[in-house]
Amino acid sequence: MTIYSFSQLVLNWYHFYGRKDLPWQKNKTLYIVWISEIMLQQTTVKSVIPYFEKFILNFPNIKTLSNAKLDEVLHLWSGLGYYNRARNIHKSAQIIQIKHNGIFPNQFIEVIKLPGIGKSTAGAILSLSLNFFYSILDGNVKRILIRYYGIIGSLKDRTTEKKLWDIIEYITPIHNSAKFNQAMMDLGSLICIRGKAKCNICPLNQKCVAYIEQKWEKYPLKHIKKKTPKIISWFVLIKFKNNFWIEKNTKKNIWRDLFCFPSFDSQKKALIWSKEKKINLNKRKKMISFFHQFSHFILHIHPILFELSSILEIHEKDKMGLWYDLNNPQHIGLPRPVKKILESFKKDIFLRG
Ligand code: ADE
Repeated sequence: MTIYSFSQLVLNWYHFYGRKDLPWQKNKTLYIVWISEIMLQQTTVKSVIPYFEKFILNFPNIKTLSNAKLDEVLHLWSGLGYYNRARNIHKSAQIIQIKHNGIFPNQFIEVIKLPGIGKSTAGAILSLSLNFFYSILDGNVKRILIRYYGIIGSLKDRTTEKKLWDIIEYITPIHNSAKFNQAMMDLGSLICIRGKAKCNICPLNQKCVAYIEQKWEKYPLKHIKKKTPKIISWFVLIKFKNNFWIEKNTKKNIWRDLFCFPSFDSQKKALIWSKEKKINLNKRKKMISFFHQFSHFILHIHPILFELSSILEIHEKDKMGLWYDLNNPQHIGLPRPVKKILESFKKDIFLRG
């Protein structure tokens, strides 16, 4: 099979089955494509759409984004996960405002310098918005290449990564990079999916090594999965009327800068702290525990609820806290499980024991 025919097969498939009406494909500016590509990292198209639309409505350009408070940006990101992406977007907007007069750079060397943008994302932004000749090598594209060429090697291995870059840069067509790149990502997420690929309807099946060998499960090589660690967290929910006490997380972890309920790694610590805050421990209510899955661990959350009859002073010296008003919510970032709990109270459906 010639090089031409690989890209032509992919482009022909895209013509009939590819995605062409996604919200970020309507007005393809560098800004729009940048925001969408960052949101799409580690997230599905379906989950991104409502977040993207709300984000663009609130921050239609670099200027509005760079002038926004980080809390406001995190607020619109709440529930989407991987919050470093939001922090990097905000930081990048401020860099662009100062260094590039508020205009998103169209040179690869400048784009890749922005926080949170690697080689593949820089290529995605420039090719999808301006049809510049750059390749994309995200997880979807990698999977197609590994199966098609029958590459045996760990995805984490640098030599495999280099091999895949060499291949994709070789087969990306010069004149149709935007369509080809989008087509490869669509093919990877719709046909050459993780797990059982839909080989019988794949345009590349005639020469695909994994298909010919009938061994799609062999590609890509799976890493030996370590057991996912479980982490326990006790959330102290302090409720006064329609308000909940939450505090800004200053630790440099995945929820940095987001607002959370006071949380502890044991029930004992949670109760000692609550007692110190003059909360009547006898008034605590048991709530249903639940799990929250992260990519590398599972958080087992045990909420304890205290409903106050009069307001208490909870503030701590080194912490920024506030009473979150369910009826008039503040624009701040909330991790998904915190948002879930607050929303359940809003709907008044949270089950209490
Ligand atoms: N994943 C990353 N970028 C994407 C895009 N433009 N379309 C679909 N999936 C993607």
